[in-house]
Amino acid sequence: MEAPGVDRFEAFLVLAGAGRMGGAMLRAWLGRGYDPRKISVIEPRPSPEIIELAQATGFAMAAPSRPPEILVLAMKPQNLGEAAAALAPFAGPDTLVISILAGKTIANIAARFPHATAIVRAMPNLAAAVGRGMAVLAASVAATPCQRATAAALFAATGRVEWLAGEDLIDAVTAISGSGPAYVFCLTEALASAGAALGLPAGIAARLARATVEGAGELMFQCPESTSAELRENVTSRGGTTAAALEVLMAQDGLTPLIERAAKAAKQRAAALSG
Ligand SMILES: NC(=O)c1ccc[n+]([C@@H]2O[C@H](COP(=O)([O-])OP(=O)(O)OC[C@H]3O[C@@H](n4cnc5c(N)ncnc54)[C@H](OP(=O)(O)O)[C@@H]3O)[C@@H](O)[C@H]2O)c1
Repeated sequence: MEAPGVDRFEAFLVLAGAGRMGGAMLRAWLGRGYDPRKISVIEPRPSPEIIELAQATGFAMAAPSRPPEILVLAMKPQNLGEAAAALAPFAGPDTLVISILAGKTIANIAARFPHATAIVRAMPNLAAAVGRGMAVLAASVAATPCQRATAAALFAATGRVEWLAGEDLIDAVTAISGSGPAYVFCLTEALASAGAALGLPAGIAARLARATVEGAGELMFQCPESTSAELRENVTSRGGTTAAALEVLMAQDGLTPLIERAAKAAKQRAAALSG
């Protein structure tokens, strides 16, 4: 494939599925200057926001009339069969197929798109919606360096990108960065609940917890040179209040084994759903 707009975002791209993740990626690409005339969106029941975006920017909401250079699959895994049956004829030998579907292997996608050779499997996360996503990618051997660069550029528009040498670790990725935002929301709820248990009015406790998690996340974002352990040590004075809490959180039966158990459960679930 001839360098199809790696930096210029002008390859012909079809996005199948414009829900939460597909919609977030679409907005990120348009925000980075992707030429809307080069984008077709296939979505059976587009939201009013997507219809409005199509009217405002001019991307098409129709099946392509020729094979796209990039086909992004962003429907739910259970809709893949029906979607692939309709889309397979449009995927040609030069089409890079990118799938963000949880649990669907490269071999599974390849079998459904027999004319396409290059497949990239990606595991993004919800923070893509605010440009702070973490996407992890694995490519089929047939993907060219240029196609890999194209995939990386598409996800870089939504946040950070990491590559895996193969897809064998993607279930572990799902358990950490894929499902991870929900763990942080859960931590925020736990902090609010602890505040209420200490006598704070529920509304104040919820606001304190949320602002604290937002602020700590922003601090990490703005201090890329510091590890999270260094940031923790910087706010922990010996014998102080934070140290008292961390003694509980960092005990042998504290937060680390709990999160390890949670992540293991997510990985096992990802493996069970995979195919
Ligand atoms: N959300 C996340 O945090 C996250 C993280 C990592 C990976 N993923 C993956 O991303 C994919 C999308 O997740 P999501 O949260 O964005 O789900 P979603 O909001 O339900 O979006 C999926 C969209 O695809 C549409 N769709 C259904 N059948 C289709 C077809 N045949 N052709 C084209 N579009 C079709 C759905 O329409 P209807 O609603 O009308 O069915 C819906 O609008 C999933 O495969 C998931 O595994 C999501």
